[in-house]
Amino acid sequence: MTTSAPSITSSSNILRDQFVSAMSRVPLSVAVVVAGAPDERVALTVGTFISVSADPPMVLVAVKSSNPLCKAVASHRRFAINVLSAEQVEHSERFSGRPRTGQPYDLTAARWAGGPGELHRYLEGAVAAFDCELVEARTIASHVLLIGRVEDIVSGAEQPLVYWSRSYGIPSPLISSG
Ligand SMILES: Cc1cc2nc3c(=O)[nH]c(=O)nc-3n(C[C@H](O)[C@H](O)[C@H](O)COP(=O)(O)O)c2cc1C
Repeated sequence: MTTSAPSITSSSNILRDQFVSAMSRVPLSVAVVVAGAPDERVALTVGTFISVSADPPMVLVAVKSSNPLCKAVASHRRFAINVLSAEQVEHSERFSGRPRTGQPYDLTAARWAGGPGELHRYLEGAVAAFDCELVEARTIASHVLLIGRVEDIVSGAEQPLVYWSRSYGIPSPLISSG
């Protein structure tokens, strides 16, 4: 009887599955990124929003390179990040392309407020919105890392939406760190 070593393909598939499973245990904030000309806005739900620096304020999101949002950001060099509140699951589903009702990615299904110089950048009812100038767009594997310098901030709702273990939830404090 002969035994063969696992192929590189099957071991990389196993690692990929382990990665996806492990990452599902990591809680994410949920944000809707908006970019493009006022009459051609595109929006996408992301869980990869992080702060990069406070001096100056800079943030990062990772977006699949085939998504139209990447082209809109590259053309206009601006994007706004709206961090969703616990009441905004519907927006997360709509802008990830799987709304329970209505059309996917339909910006008219949400209420927007103006940002500096341009209307319809900020999602009403979000926890916070960050208007950014693009500093760098770097393609890594299947995604583009969009790094933005924050130029305007709006703070709103108190309770953020969390995505964890393939479900939506809300953060529940255990102890205060100060
Ligand atoms: C909670 C959540 C977080 C997501 N995070 C990201 C993300 O960080 N980057 C990204 O490109 N897509 C992210 N997606 C997926 C997109 O919203 C969208 O569903 C996907 O790009 C659609 O791809 P398709 O057109 O190939 O089906 C996320 C979706 C959800 C529901």
